[in-house]
Amino acid sequence: MTDKSDVHRRDAVKEYIDGLYSPASEGLAELRRVGEEGHIPIILKDTETLIGVILQMKKPKNILEIGAAIGYSASYFSERAAGYSDAAKITTIEVDPLYANDAEENLKGRNNVTLVRGDARQVLAETDDEYDLVFIDAAKSHYAEFWEAVMPHVSEGAVIICDNVLMKGKTADPSIDEEGRFVTNIKYMRAFLDMITNDERVITSVIAAGDGMSISVVL
Ligand SMILES: C[S@@+](CC[C@H](N)C(=O)[O-])C[C@H]1O[C@@H](n2cnc3c(N)ncnc32)[C@H](O)[C@@H]1O
Repeated sequence: MTDKSDVHRRDAVKEYIDGLYSPASEGLAELRRVGEEGHIPIILKDTETLIGVILQMKKPKNILEIGAAIGYSASYFSERAAGYSDAAKITTIEVDPLYANDAEENLKGRNNVTLVRGDARQVLAETDDEYDLVFIDAAKSHYAEFWEAVMPHVSEGAVIICDNVLMKGKTADPSIDEEGRFVTNIKYMRAFLDMITNDERVITSVIAAGDGMSISVVL
């Protein structure tokens, strides 16, 4: 069980790690400021730096993102990918038309990014494209469906990263959800993590970086 000193220690660790962060560019720093001030759920700083390290190790050529919001993480993918290959491409899918409009604006001039409007499950059912890195960062109760929608589009060595899988601790300890507002999300996320950690098509690590991430490699 956690006590107050555990919580304090975790906050201190997070604050310390965030203090080590530096933005990849002025443009990204400005877009992060806009996202944070607008309470848009963009990737956390430590999530971003871990993704950056994975990108640099894997150097994926075809990146898929499910959930663009205002295009912050897609912009980050764009800058990092341009740093290792002129040929690397990013496809980001966004279902909310207003967010998609913001993303379109914020992604202007990023020629390695394609924004696709629509529900990722449907978009993926209608394409044969293959991806070597997938970032799932959309509706938390649909992760299992996104996972299965992605599977026909990945092969050995592909990396699949899912964000927010610990939901501020609630996935691990549902009693944190005192008012019971997240019961459904917690149930689906626990089932999802059970599923992917037992999925024989991949090897998966669930880590407490950011808001909780799962990192899987297709076998
Ligand atoms: C956490 S935000 C994405 C943040 C973004 N990846 C970033 O870090 O800058 C989640 C987004 O997923 C979108 N979304 C939810 N369900 C979706 C679906 N079925 N297909 C595509 N996008 C979806 C939401 O509209 C929302 O904009």
